[in-house]
Amino acid sequence: MTIETERLILRPFRAGDAEDMLAYLKKPAVNCFADMALHSLEEAQKEAIKRSSDTEYYFAVVLKDSGKVIGEIFAHPDEYSPDSFSPCWMLCESCQGKGYAFEAAFAFFDYLFNEKGARRIYAYTEDCNKPSQRLCEKLGMRKEGEFIEYISFVKNPDGTDRYENTYQYAVLKREWLGKTQKQ
Ligand SMILES: CC(C)(COP(=O)(O)OP(=O)(O)OC[C@H]1O[C@@H](n2cnc3c(N)ncnc32)[C@H](O)[C@@H]1OP(=O)(O)O)[C@@H](O)C(=O)NCCC(=O)NCCS
Repeated sequence: MTIETERLILRPFRAGDAEDMLAYLKKPAVNCFADMALHSLEEAQKEAIKRSSDTEYYFAVVLKDSGKVIGEIFAHPDEYSPDSFSPCWMLCESCQGKGYAFEAAFAFFDYLFNEKGARRIYAYTEDCNKPSQRLCEKLGMRKEGEFIEYISFVKNPDGTDRYENTYQYAVLKREWLGKTQKQ
């Protein structure tokens, strides 16, 4: 599956994407992606090959002009509620602040709602992650809750778990259609 927007192509990962992936996953920008860190080109190659079989829900975000992979967006049907999806999005640092994340996420949401049976899309974001919160809001997601010391992805210097305060945002298909059909 390939999704095209004005400036981007969203397409499944390929083995040849390893170098671009390593650039933004060497040191994931946020704690919630800490376990996705890649430590070598070899590791990135294995990961790119693994991802390449997921052709419906895991997309590389590619610049149309250069063919460069600048990040990723993915979401799978929830195990116990398969019409619900929780997307993850990430761009390399030099491609942030250019509207690419919104462009990719808008197209991905449209795809999930209109082609993959999504009824509800929800996202978690750490309370300090303003760019991700802003993106949720621009996508028309409602802030549904704030969970205090919800989850731990990393350790404190003394070895104890460091817990994150987390917001949840969501948008329903009927809300999405109401908003996008007016545009
Ligand atoms: C979260 C993340 C994907 C958001 O990316 P982003 O580039 O900030 O998001 P957007 O695509 O919405 O672009 C942001 C800005 O680009 C600006 N912009 C510049 N040129 C633009 C253009 N041609 N078209 C549209 N917007 C443009 C916009 O004005 C926008 O700012 P605004 O929201 O104040 O109006 C990014 O910060 C990231 O990868 N972070 C690390 C990973 C992460 O935190 N993931 C989420 C975990 S919960």
